[in-house]
Amino acid sequence: MRRSRFIGCGGYLPETVLTNDELAASVDTSDEWIVARTGIRERHVAAHGELTSDLALKAAKKALDAADLRPPDVDLIVVATATPDETFPATATIVQAKLGITAGAAFDVGAVCSGFIYALAVADNFIRAGQVETALVIGAETFSRIIDWQDRSTCVLFGDGAGAVVLRAAEGDGTAGDRGILATRLRSDGRQHDLLYVDGGPSSTQTTGHLRMLGKEVFRHAVANLSSIVREVMSEPGLEGLEIDWLIPHQANRRILDATARKLGLPLDKVIVTIDRHANTSAASVPLALSEAVGDGRVKPGDTLLMEAMGGGFTWGACVARW
Ligand code: ACO
Repeated sequence: MRRSRFIGCGGYLPETVLTNDELAASVDTSDEWIVARTGIRERHVAAHGELTSDLALKAAKKALDAADLRPPDVDLIVVATATPDETFPATATIVQAKLGITAGAAFDVGAVCSGFIYALAVADNFIRAGQVETALVIGAETFSRIIDWQDRSTCVLFGDGAGAVVLRAAEGDGTAGDRGILATRLRSDGRQHDLLYVDGGPSSTQTTGHLRMLGKEVFRHAVANLSSIVREVMSEPGLEGLEIDWLIPHQANRRILDATARKLGLPLDKVIVTIDRHANTSAASVPLALSEAVGDGRVKPGDTLLMEAMGGGFTWGACVARW
């Protein structure tokens, strides 16, 4: 059975770090409030002129180095982003050009904070269908550009960054012992638009707009939706009883991470947490957390991973994999 095996990953965070105390100098908030409600202590912010594609490129190069591949080996690039460089073309094609790749296909996937899980599922399906051998899957965001920096209820929550993985087709025996992606599940519910959206766009206002969120409502939906998608993906045929070594969740709020781990019966030291240093980097948060945990040796070959995310739309999704 054809599987999508992970053969490398990498992350990139912009150099500038913005602490809670620094934010509190310009908006009515405090380090105590932000840490207590979210677990966030600081976030990275892209430099003037540093674009989503620049962040994506740096993460992609690290992932390709880790995979010991050269750019021409890649025949599919999928970039998950809600903050593209331009309305069009797709940021993925800009990354493709910056990498010097002229073969294969490159396109973006828009599912906001769930974007990386969506992009993984898309690439996995291309690989399993036999259309692609090697895919570069990237989550990259510059949310600092769509934040209303006067709105304390949202501006404290987000950061910029990028993470990437390289997937390659490999034969497995079709059991949960295979390495690579074992299952993915995606969901969405467009009725929840007003709880989390950007109030601008090329067709509606001809402006970029700012992120708007009803945080309490999003929180409630996030805990319910993530629990149900995790149950669904873990009950895929062949995965019953599979023990998860690492939960790699979208980093939206420390309290959501803790609640999901509790529901799964996983101890907190099995949860990869970066929210304290990265804040919510939307589509970049899962591959950034994965890259950190692979880089520091926590995630080892053969470990089972559960990745999950929920974001604007609403969209949500989960992926079970063996590293
Ligand atoms: N500093 C100080 N006080 C604040 C701040 C702040 N930064 N922000 C809000 N407050 C105040 C509010 O005004 C409110 O004051 P009031 O009681 O006088 O009216 C009080 O704090 C409580 O506000 P709540 O919104 O009720 O606080 P809550 O405990 O719900 O925490 C938070 C807010 C952190 C946003 C939380 O609801 C959350 O994390 N929600 C989920 C966000 C999420 O998961 N997003 C994921 C998807 S993101 C994406 O897809 C792009």
